[in-house]
Amino acid sequence: MFKLIRHDAALILARDPAARSKFEVYCLYPGFHALLLHRGAHGLWRRGFKFSARLVAYFARIWTGIEIHPGALIGRGVFIDHGTGLVIGETAEIGDNVTLYQGVTLGGVTLNQGKRHPTLENDVIVGAGAQVLGPIVIGRGARIGANSVVTRNVAAGDTVTGIPAHSKNAKRNDKFMAYGLPCDGDVTNGAVSHDVGLIADCHERLAVLSDEVASLRQILSALEQKQRSGG
Ligand SMILES: CC(C)(COP(=O)(O)OP(=O)(O)OC[C@H]1O[C@@H](n2cnc3c(N)ncnc32)[C@H](O)[C@@H]1OP(=O)(O)O)[C@@H](O)C(=O)NCCC(=O)NCCS
Repeated sequence: MFKLIRHDAALILARDPAARSKFEVYCLYPGFHALLLHRGAHGLWRRGFKFSARLVAYFARIWTGIEIHPGALIGRGVFIDHGTGLVIGETAEIGDNVTLYQGVTLGGVTLNQGKRHPTLENDVIVGAGAQVLGPIVIGRGARIGANSVVTRNVAAGDTVTGIPAHSKNAKRNDKFMAYGLPCDGDVTNGAVSHDVGLIADCHERLAVLSDEVASLRQILSALEQKQRSGG
């Protein structure tokens, strides 16, 4: 448990440019507190103490402004930044290293019991105010733009924005960057190494072409000499 808490705090520190120390994360991050209380509430829920579980979740909501149903399944390294107004429904499932900003809803669109809330696979980023509704699957590493409304599955690595949300066809496999932005450093490095690779290919091709031209010249001059001596 303590290992998990330390892991969560370390990941928050790595993902929030505003975080200065683990101590600050332990004391001043409502998302961290909400997840901590959720782990307790979820344990109670699974053991059948439904009322106590909901009581803990209710207290967590008053304290943090974040409402997580104790039945929700939440993985490791999840980061709820700011968090105010965030709602996570009972049958929602959240993978590892997911990031959620304030005002996000992982909600249902049916009164039927059973699975009715979204599943977020690992490394998903959901922008502020986004509404993700229904038993849909948001694929690994997908990004959901701020204030989007998503009611359909999102493919792994895709970015969707708008109401209703549409794909920007911007599949990315890069690492986490706060606010769902492209990884400036990595993208730049990636772009540079891509360019360096292209330039290296060009050099190689140029060398091959130079050799070919040189040997063609040799053949040509040999033919010319032959022609002269013959003629
Ligand atoms: C969706 C998101 C991940 C896309 O990032 P990106 O790939 O870098 O996108 P860009 O900034 O290059 O924008 C590309 C286009 O999408 C549009 N766009 C970006 N985010 C949008 C959004 N949330 N809703 C609608 N359109 C959006 C841009 O206006 C731009 O449109 P254009 O091509 O017509 O000019 C990002 O904009 C986002 O919403 N991140 C969440 C940030 C957040 O919630 N921060 C809260 C911190 S407290």
